Amino acid sequence: MKLINFNWQQLILGLGCLLLMIACKSFYPTTNSDVKPLKVGTDPTFVPFEIQTASGNLEGFDIDLMNALAQPTAGLSFAVQFESLPFDGMISTLQAKRVDAAISGITITAERLKTIAFSRPYFKAGLAIAVRKDNQNIKDFKSLQGKKIAVQIGSTGADFAKTIPNAKISTFNSGPEFFQDLLNGNVDAVVSDAFATLYAIKNGKLKGIKVVADLLTQEYYGIATPKNSPYLDAINKGIATLLSNGTYKQIYQKWFNAEPPQLPDSWP
Ligand code: ARG
Repeated sequence: MKLINFNWQQLILGLGCLLLMIACKSFYPTTNSDVKPLKVGTDPTFVPFEIQTASGNLEGFDIDLMNALAQPTAGLSFAVQFESLPFDGMISTLQAKRVDAAISGITITAERLKTIAFSRPYFKAGLAIAVRKDNQNIKDFKSLQGKKIAVQIGSTGADFAKTIPNAKISTFNSGPEFFQDLLNGNVDAVVSDAFATLYAIKNGKLKGIKVVADLLTQEYYGIATPKNSPYLDAINKGIATLLSNGTYKQIYQKWFNAEPPQLPDSWP
């Protein structure tokens, strides 16, 4: 009889411990100490999508979106670890699987889809032409013919500039550099992402520059991953959740002070 009692105690103690372990696990599912963080590449030279603050922190629309995706409310089960990469090397870094994903205002294009994968569109964007404020000649695509144009290496702006007859194209690594070249008078125009340019002008970061043709193209940004990524499905579901639960709208309003446009659920 005594022996049986003793076993019952042990059993209850054991069950108690087990329950405690289960409880702890469900109380702290967000720390994911047992899951390695998702490595996410970004080129933080692109206001207001990804920028590095003076203290070295990353902030911006893309950063908020990615961090929101990593919250358990978006259904994802991983922490995010950002890694700064030059924009030009983003696609080859993804191909080599040196990062799990990249968020960097990356436009979904048929060309890029040959080598990497993209999430569903998360931002409606397009290119714009920027010139010095005193420029009266450049007004549209046609007036760019034969002009000197600065673009970011490897960007959709660079692809677009290649289609302008007789244009002389200078390529740069980052936004601040090609706008500086425009201000210095070395080039006549910059072709780059409209939202980024308009944001910089509005916030006094680009004095002396104006936009003459807004949304020359219609583009969508997507979160990029290597092909056959095990994370893509969860990322897509997470974006859908943020779109339907109001988080996307909140982030959009924070950075653009406007209502977000409708997004298609797939590309194109
Ligand atoms: N949307 C353009 C592209 O995909 C430019 C993006 C630049 N992004 C950046 N973080 N520098 O080519």
